[in-house]
Amino acid sequence: MNTQTRKATAIAFPNIALIKYWGNRDQSLRLPSNDSLSFNLGDLRTTTTVEFDPLLTRDEVSIDGHKVNAQAYERVVHHLDRIADIDCGERRGLSECRSKARVMSNNTFPMGVGIASSASGFAALTIAACAALGLKKSEPELSSLARLGSGSACRSVPGGFVAWHDGYATSIATQSHWPLMDVIAIVASRHKTVGSTEGHALADSSPFQAARLADAPRRLSLCEQAIANCDFPLLAEVIEQDALMMHSVIMTSQPSVIYWVPATLSVIDAVRDLRDSGVPVAFTIDAGPNVHCICEAHAVKQVKQAVRQIEGVTDVIESGVGGPACVIPHS
Ligand code: DP6
Repeated sequence: MNTQTRKATAIAFPNIALIKYWGNRDQSLRLPSNDSLSFNLGDLRTTTTVEFDPLLTRDEVSIDGHKVNAQAYERVVHHLDRIADIDCGERRGLSECRSKARVMSNNTFPMGVGIASSASGFAALTIAACAALGLKKSEPELSSLARLGSGSACRSVPGGFVAWHDGYATSIATQSHWPLMDVIAIVASRHKTVGSTEGHALADSSPFQAARLADAPRRLSLCEQAIANCDFPLLAEVIEQDALMMHSVIMTSQPSVIYWVPATLSVIDAVRDLRDSGVPVAFTIDAGPNVHCICEAHAVKQVKQAVRQIEGVTDVIESGVGGPACVIPHS
């Protein structure tokens, strides 16, 4: 009996979408209805170790030292199965041929405050699992694989500013190209959240989704232009419009979902006031109530100060642009 364990550790960063992915043209393959664009959040990190151990009788999955719930467990195990199926080669489809694995994942950012950990989580899991199995995969292949676990995870594989065109994501500008910052205003919410997987499935039920999709290439191209030229006014205009279009779809889906709370609007107002007074800051909002205040590095202090004072803002987290996901050596 082969008792050798196969182990690897990878790190990945979450990403914030400037042009959002909302809706899938193929739900099970997570092929998106529109292309999207993001940057990695280099000051927030997920570190994941995957160890395939022939002596284990069941997969073990923990995040931040705690066993995950049944739904998250199934999602991780399914992802390990699909990666192991590649390793099985001619026995493709027989994921039983893999050893069970111990998966330990740790985030440097608090869970449950609404910062999506599935992007960095599935990027790190994909890279660690492939490395543990000795699978040599290109960056586009790793990005495609990560996408099957969570759509936005494909954008956490390459570094810096990243565009996701259909199957996988690639860097369009390096981490140091434009030192933007994300000042995340965490707002208290009593609402039951609807997860993004569920939200994507509802997208086509909004009559606004078709219009949002038809206009997506224009917004993507303007955003690419803004990044290429480090043009903040253009970036501000296009990312705010894109976020509002996504939330218009979400609010008008059937059933309707409203992620915002009163403090969400207060932060939007404050961001626009700051910009009117000459501060380079703009907002974007994911599938939750928190507001991501994207700003130029020199404006961070002023943005943080303004946002902290807003009633309903419980915490402020900041991050600069991050690099690619990668394997890290074991000490
Ligand atoms: C609003 O990638 O979290 O953050 O594929 O179901 O895991 P799943 O969805 P996910 O959706 C991200 C939605 C978003 C916009 C974005 O990041 O582009």
